[in-house]
Amino acid sequence: MYAERVLSGMRPTGRLHLGHYHGVLKNWVKLQNEYPCLFFVADWHALTTAYDEPGTIEENTWEMVIDWLAAGVDPSLATLFIQSRVPEHAELHLLLSMMTPLGWLERVPTYKDQQEKLEHKDLSTYGFLGYPLLQSADILIYRANRVPVGEDQVPHIEFSREIARRFNHLYGREADFEEKARTAVKKLGAKRAKLYEELRTRFQQEGDHQALERAHALLEEAQNLSMGDRERLFGFLEGSSKMILVEPDALLTEAAKMPGLDGQKMSKSYNNTISLREGAESVTKKIRTMQTDPARVRRTDVGDPEKCPVWQFHLVYSDEGTKQWVQQGCRSAGIGCIECKHPVIDAVLKEQEPMHERAQAYIDDPTLVRNIIADGCERARKLAAETMRDVREAMGLNHT
Ligand code: TRP
Ligand code: SF4
Repeated sequence: MYAERVLSGMRPTGRLHLGHYHGVLKNWVKLQNEYPCLFFVADWHALTTAYDEPGTIEENTWEMVIDWLAAGVDPSLATLFIQSRVPEHAELHLLLSMMTPLGWLERVPTYKDQQEKLEHKDLSTYGFLGYPLLQSADILIYRANRVPVGEDQVPHIEFSREIARRFNHLYGREADFEEKARTAVKKLGAKRAKLYEELRTRFQQEGDHQALERAHALLEEAQNLSMGDRERLFGFLEGSSKMILVEPDALLTEAAKMPGLDGQKMSKSYNNTISLREGAESVTKKIRTMQTDPARVRRTDVGDPEKCPVWQFHLVYSDEGTKQWVQQGCRSAGIGCIECKHPVIDAVLKEQEPMHERAQAYIDDPTLVRNIIADGCERARKLAAETMRDVREAMGLNHT
């Protein structure tokens, strides 16, 4: 129940591009081999800012899932689903909203930042203020402990941690918690109980996080604990309440080094992207017409790769030998810019080849994609339902 679990989501804002591939998707593909992973389309989150243009969400959702699959996200390894098809997220969001101080939401830095950035849009809505809380529900409902995100999302993960802590503090407290926890320790068996106590002391007195991790592992292995006792023993390690919701950690995704066609960060809003499944002809044309060091007006003018966006692409795609060839050839006017771009064009096309191949099957038969998502939603709902049972009970809603 408290095993490792990775969860991440993406808003369906349009076709994904190579920046998403190098920044996010390659990382997902790696993670799916290391942990149980859940990846989902955050369509409700898209509505928080695009509430007046709902027409794009559906198509973007399916295109995005195909982009994930094209990039190598594997539905036999990871669970892929759509947020709105797991309505338990909304229920948890509602229940958490009861205990979420308004000030906490108003202080999340993205709230004001985004309002200023998207100033053409009225974002003084209830839904937008609640954006980080909905995200917390996404994470906490799966007791996901690792959340791969970019730097910009770190405040939201921090916020989720605070919500989990507050929830456990408010609803995990039992009058006789300590006594119940001590009884549960005994149920571990003499040897395990002793080790548990030792590790608990080491964590509480010396702040030894390794001891905490070992204690978590010990509890995960213990077979004969009831759900309640397990929550108590997890909570007892750190304090005086049950751990009903798990505090997640951000798994910081390295800032993507993928430049756009103009040398700025690749981003839809800069109009400098190559989409993940862009056709070969268009890719070739885009790279051939990329601007280069403006000092190279004529073929005989020397250039400086540091002032050229094409060089940024070489940094992502080229081996040492090619990079040396560029450095030398550019600085001595030994090579021309079109020549310099050839290895980049070849590398991008080669990278995209398996993506086109994987995508084709799904384009030919969209029911494949529908089925992958239907399966994923079902799996996700089962996991979500487990947490919701505990949450309802803790909040006094266990009406049987
Ligand atoms: N807010 C995230 C983004 O814009 C998307 C998201 C929604 C998410 N729910 C999440 C990411 C839960 C990680 C975990 O990128
Ligand atoms: Fe850029 Fe290459 Fe031309 Fe130099 S030779 S300016 S690195 S494209």
